[in-house]
Parts: sequence; structure tokens; C-alpha cells
Amino acid sequence: MDELNNQVIGNQTDNGLIENESKNNDLKIDDEKIKIEDVKANKNLRILTGDRPTGRLHIGHYFGSLKSRVELQDKCETFIEVADVQALTDNFNNPDKVKQNVSQIVMDYLSVGIDPNKATILLQSRIPEIAELTVFYSNLVTIARLQRNPTVKTEIAQKRDLFGESVTYGFLGYPVSQAADITAFDASLVPVGEDQLPLIEQCREIVRKFNSIYGDTLKEPVAVMSEKGRIKGLDGNEKMGKSLGNALYLSDDLNTINEKVMGALTDPARIKKDDPGNPDICMVYYYHKLFSDENTCKNVCEECKKGLRGCVACKKQLIENINKELEPIREKRHYYENNPKEVMDILMSGTAHAREKAKETMEKVKKAMKLDY
Ligand code: TRP
Repeated sequence: MDELNNQVIGNQTDNGLIENESKNNDLKIDDEKIKIEDVKANKNLRILTGDRPTGRLHIGHYFGSLKSRVELQDKCETFIEVADVQALTDNFNNPDKVKQNVSQIVMDYLSVGIDPNKATILLQSRIPEIAELTVFYSNLVTIARLQRNPTVKTEIAQKRDLFGESVTYGFLGYPVSQAADITAFDASLVPVGEDQLPLIEQCREIVRKFNSIYGDTLKEPVAVMSEKGRIKGLDGNEKMGKSLGNALYLSDDLNTINEKVMGALTDPARIKKDDPGNPDICMVYYYHKLFSDENTCKNVCEECKKGLRGCVACKKQLIENINKELEPIREKRHYYENNPKEVMDILMSGTAHAREKAKETMEKVKKAMKLDY
């Protein structure tokens, strides 16, 4: 059992996680979600995660999820989905945007170090089994339950312009399609940000319902939370977001980074260079904590509080450190921008591999549902 305990720690056996019998283990985890550092190397465990291709990825994605995916690809069998069908649920009127962002997002993945030899990158629209599963699962979910999903609720409120008074059937149902994404590939672990937890919960409910009606067929996935959480925007907003105009993109060039950081929110009460500042309300200090070493952060904090460091010098130092981190990413991205065929080949061969898994699931599902003609 010792060896087994070195795997992912969980208390379920039916989702591919290994039962943890050691009661004196001080890792406290419940069965719905675990922390990223609790994921131990186990190539028998499959991870599925994904993004809607609606824009380039920014440093919020980088610290919130991309870095951990790079780590996880060495530990578990990793699948990363470019969720173009899901992107259309709130961009149905803008197919060009979704199409253009498919290759952009794959380039972002590759340039941060997602390795196509280790991880499978797949395109949702090229896996029809996902759409088929969505139809089957839609019988197992009530409209009221979807309307109560906190993530869906928040998003509907944010998208009033698009949906007006009545949301589309497709958007309301996207948690069902996301449950299809996860189960199609028989994933045990789903690394997501906090905002996605209600979607994983809904997926688990669908799985339980399916299994209770049609017999034990699907795995109940477990959410994996990253420790960094949400990254704030340049303007101090709690969320860095494409639509908020407050993001530093992985593909931003030197000039853009320079301009954006120079305009970042600092302590507004600090007018003169030697006014004592409050680093806790300064975005420059906040980003120093992401990009600069511990010693630098300590100096930034102390010197700012004493009025010994001007904001301009502080921003310049930050820009330098951001560029140190982003330069290798930019270089890789340039390579892929100049080799678009290679990018699409990686995506298509990943999709072909993933589709094989989805077909296996479909066979099991159809057998369970007595649709195996
Ligand atoms: N809903 C996710 C987002 O908006 C994207 C996504 C689609 C996803 N399918 C997934 C995430 C499956 C995890 C697992 O970012």
C-alpha cells in the first residue's frame, strides 16, 4: 500500500485515484478537490483541462494554470483541450474570432513549455463524440439545476448585451458539454481555477446520475486547484481579463510591456518620489512578487515604505524582470508564428490521439445505454 500511497492521495477508488488508508497522513483533502501539490507522479492518471479560444493568453493564465500544466505533464497523462465549440456558446456571432484564436492559443501553450511529446493538445470541434455525449447527458440535468450553477449565473449576468432577457439553450447547457469533455477522455483530474469549481461539481453529478441509471461506466473527476489563484489586473482589478483591458499578454513585445507597466496602478497618495508609499495597494509591488526574487521584493517593500525608491525606478526594475521571464517564451512563440503548419500539425495529431480515447468511451457509454447496435 505504501507505493500506492505515493500516488495521488484521494479517498475514492472508482475514479482511478488510489485509496489512502493511512489515517495519520496530514494531507487534508476532500474528495471533490485536491491541491496541485498533492498530485503525485502517476502516468495511469489522466488530466484534462482546457481553455476557450477567445483571445491570447496572459500572465493570469500563466501563473494561474499554464505553469502548473507544464509541471503536471511530467507527472500524469495530460490532455489539453482547445474548447472551440464551447467558445462559440458565447461567441456564436463571431466565428472568425474563435477560429483565429485556436492557433494563437496553441502557440501560447507551446511557447510556455507544454511539450507535444508529453501532453496531448486537442481541438474540441474535431471530436464529435463530445457532442454526442452532450446530447445523452442533457437528459440527466434539469434546467433549474443549470440556472442555479453559480458560474453560469455570473456569466449570464456579464453577458446581458449578448443574451438580453433570455439566455440561449447552448450557453445554459455548456456545463453539460464540459462534462462531456471531461468524461470523453476518462479524465480523473481536472486542474481549474476556482471559478470553474461549480462546473466540475455539475460534471460529478451527471456522472453519478449516469452511473446510477445505466450502471457503473464513467469516472467521477476531481478538481485540482492551483495555489496561486487569481491574478489581479494592472489597474488593481481583482481579475486580469481580456475584456477588462488590464492584462499583460505572454505575446506582448518589449514596448507593450513597457507602456503597460509604466501605466500600472501605484499608491495614489504617493506624489513625490520621497513620499512614503504603501506597497500593499501598489500593483507594481504585486507583480514584483510574481516576477522578482525574494530579496528584491523585500527591498521594494522596505524602500517604498520609507520613500527611498521612486515609482519609475521600481517599474523599470519590474519591467526588466518580466522581460527576463517572457523573453524565452517570446522566442519560442516567434518560432511557431513562423511555422504555422507545425502548430496545426501538433493540434491535429493530438486530436487524432484524443479521439481514439473518446471512441473507447463512446463504445462503453452506448453499451450501457443500450444503443450498441
Ligand atoms: N470552461 C473552461 C474555461 O472557460 C474551458 C474548458 C472547456 C474546460 N472544457 C474544459 C476546462 C474541460 C476544464 C475541463 O476556461
